[in-house]
Amino acid sequence: MDILTIILTFIAFSLFLLFLNISIIALKVFTEQSIKNPNYPPVHGTVFHELFYYRKLCDYFTETAKKHRTFRVLGLGQSETYTTDIRNIEHILKSNFDKYCKGKYNQDIMVDLFGQGIFAVDGDKWRQQRKLASFEFSTRVLRDYSFAVFRRNATKLVRVVRKLSDDGQAFDMQDILMRCTLDSIFKVGFGVELNCLEGSNKEGTAFMKAFDDSNALVCWRYVDPFWKLKRFLNIGSEAALKKKIKILDAFVHGVIRTKRELLEVKQDCNDKEDILSRFMVESKRNPYKMNDQYLRDIILNFIIAGKDTSASTLSWFLYMLCKNPLIQEKVAQEVEDIIGSQDNEANLDDFMANITNATLDQMHYLHAALTETLRLYPAVPFILMWSLWCTSRVGGVQTWMTFFLTGIE
Ligand code: HEM
Repeated sequence: MDILTIILTFIAFSLFLLFLNISIIALKVFTEQSIKNPNYPPVHGTVFHELFYYRKLCDYFTETAKKHRTFRVLGLGQSETYTTDIRNIEHILKSNFDKYCKGKYNQDIMVDLFGQGIFAVDGDKWRQQRKLASFEFSTRVLRDYSFAVFRRNATKLVRVVRKLSDDGQAFDMQDILMRCTLDSIFKVGFGVELNCLEGSNKEGTAFMKAFDDSNALVCWRYVDPFWKLKRFLNIGSEAALKKKIKILDAFVHGVIRTKRELLEVKQDCNDKEDILSRFMVESKRNPYKMNDQYLRDIILNFIIAGKDTSASTLSWFLYMLCKNPLIQEKVAQEVEDIIGSQDNEANLDDFMANITNATLDQMHYLHAALTETLRLYPAVPFILMWSLWCTSRVGGVQTWMTFFLTGIE
């Protein structure tokens, strides 16, 4: 056999295996579900649709949800129930919250990146992290610290954008906002300056790239039926994910080590304002349970929660202002009426110093414009839950819930 025949045989065999796999999956999808059973919400799509519309999944599901408030998508051996019905959402998130969880399916997908962080766990671990996270924003000292960090980075953002504008350079506003929110949340989370916005910290920029790539690769798992096989063989997207997570882990564990050393030196110091320092104090009481790996998970989940959500909402907000100059004018007028104008570099620091909780509370129009942006472009368009009930109110069987938080009525 010559080399060409070997290659062609190999390709033909791979294609045959792929075809066989897809046929088995298709058979599983279409035979094991009660497609026509009226006790279940109607079927409008399969995992193949999710794959096909992957790049515009939200638009695709929004269109379907306009016609059917609750519908099913057939996945591999399970139904995914999508609902925008407020009664179902109340049933799941409020009246029967304890009957729904993240679920093994979800946890399997997330564990490599999210570990035991808040987005991947249920029960006591979830409660513990939830309590500490809400504590972060409810106690005065922590709120003031977070506020000061966000404001300082917003000042840097103005300077960076102004310089680019003065130089007549085109720039990607979303990218700049992503860097800015990452710097802020990293500082709030770890008490460390990442300096991604100004690009002065090469390690920080590498961390950001690894972080964004691994998030995207984990999302891909939801529509890739072969991800477990690829992980086992350490090939393709899974090999890339493994490498990216290694970079993240090395960076985060480095920060935790340094922080521990610092805290040892200044034991009686009172400035434990960042979340990591607070968790470390807690970890002294329970070093076995709250080890470095757990600390890594908690903080990384916190960054995942805050970075893209804030930056994408601000990007959409600016986009909406550009599309609606009248609204832009009114927002600017309100800010000027409450904290004065800011027309030159010299008074930027004074202007920013005037932004406080009290002045922000007076900006009703700005608040309404931001809320409307969130309604139209929700930063978290889905929430995934797994039903622990044998018979769920939504969907009949053990099922996977997906809520839409978009502006669909
Ligand atoms: C526009 C900005 C934001 C939006 C729209 C948003 C939205 C949401 C939503 C819908 C959830 C529920 C997700 C679920 O149950 O699966 C959530 C959870 C969470 N968010 Fe945000 N978020 C934003 C910013 C932030 C920021 C800045 C932080 C912190 C720095 C943060 C921290 C968290 C945490 C810790 C959770 C997990 C809560 C839990 O599982 O109980 N979020 N967020």
